[in-house]
Amino acid sequence: MSSKLDLSQEFIGRRALVTGGSRGIGAAIVQRLLDGGATVVVAARTRSDVTPAAATFISGDLRTSEGVQAIAAQALAALGGLDILVNNAGGSRAFSTGGSEAIPDDEWQDAFALNLFSAVRLTNAVLPALRASKAAALVNISSTAATMPAATFAHYCAAKAALETYSRALAVELAASGIRVNVVTPGPVATAGADDLRKRYTDEMGLPADAFVQQVPLGRVGTPDDVAEVVALLASDRGKWLTGVNYRVDGGQTAR
Ligand SMILES: NC(=O)c1ccc[n+]([C@@H]2O[C@H](COP(=O)([O-])OP(=O)(O)OC[C@H]3O[C@@H](n4cnc5c(N)ncnc54)[C@H](OP(=O)(O)O)[C@@H]3O)[C@@H](O)[C@H]2O)c1
Repeated sequence: MSSKLDLSQEFIGRRALVTGGSRGIGAAIVQRLLDGGATVVVAARTRSDVTPAAATFISGDLRTSEGVQAIAAQALAALGGLDILVNNAGGSRAFSTGGSEAIPDDEWQDAFALNLFSAVRLTNAVLPALRASKAAALVNISSTAATMPAATFAHYCAAKAALETYSRALAVELAASGIRVNVVTPGPVATAGADDLRKRYTDEMGLPADAFVQQVPLGRVGTPDDVAEVVALLASDRGKWLTGVNYRVDGGQTAR
């Protein structure tokens, strides 16, 4: 006797908050959760023309404690509770051709505020709601930069590495509350923001235009959907015995 999975229904009744869901990988995650029947709130500073229209959009800056508290309050009010939190907002706005010592203090602060503290603060703010959920899943989005660090991006690499370690600590701590905590770690993925940064990087460092593709054994950069599919697995009941894992979605980049 075989039972067929219906992926269009697996998130029915689930309430989700996705940070940075206005575009790029986050927008694909939002769309994937919506396709599975979830009710979804998106948090970012500005709605874009690719922000999935079926989601509720909340504007705010996740780099500040006040911004996070306001987003959490509005999201919980809109959803009436929470089952799935995806801490996806992140990135690096600058790199340093002068090496790690040339990264200004404010860039370190910015990298940690966006890539680590936003997730820590938002998780803390919604924990009571996740504890009340019968199917709580938290997914944090890291980067292969955490384990393939470069001095030019030392601030970003270090912030993502901290996010990964924080996630493992949380997974162990929250298991008894039935809250699963996992990490999805993309390699190079085609998004407008990352494409622009990679182009500036290869230009300024004198690298070939396809330097990032050359790192990927599968021979192409990823799509946002490649990442969203694995987030969906971890957020769904299909991943119900998964906690504390880090799934690298990188075309084999880190297998080298
Ligand atoms: N694309 C890649 O190659 C790649 C590789 C490895 C890891 N990642 C990680 O995957 C995640 C998504 O990357 P992406 O390429 O999809 O990024 P993206 O296209 O630049 O989108 C970033 C999202 O985060 C939001 N955001 C940025 N700063 C914010 C702030 N201060 N407050 C609230 N929202 C903010 C953006 O909206 P607003 O700007 O309007 O706020 C947008 O929705 C990030 O954590 C990134 O580090 C990406």
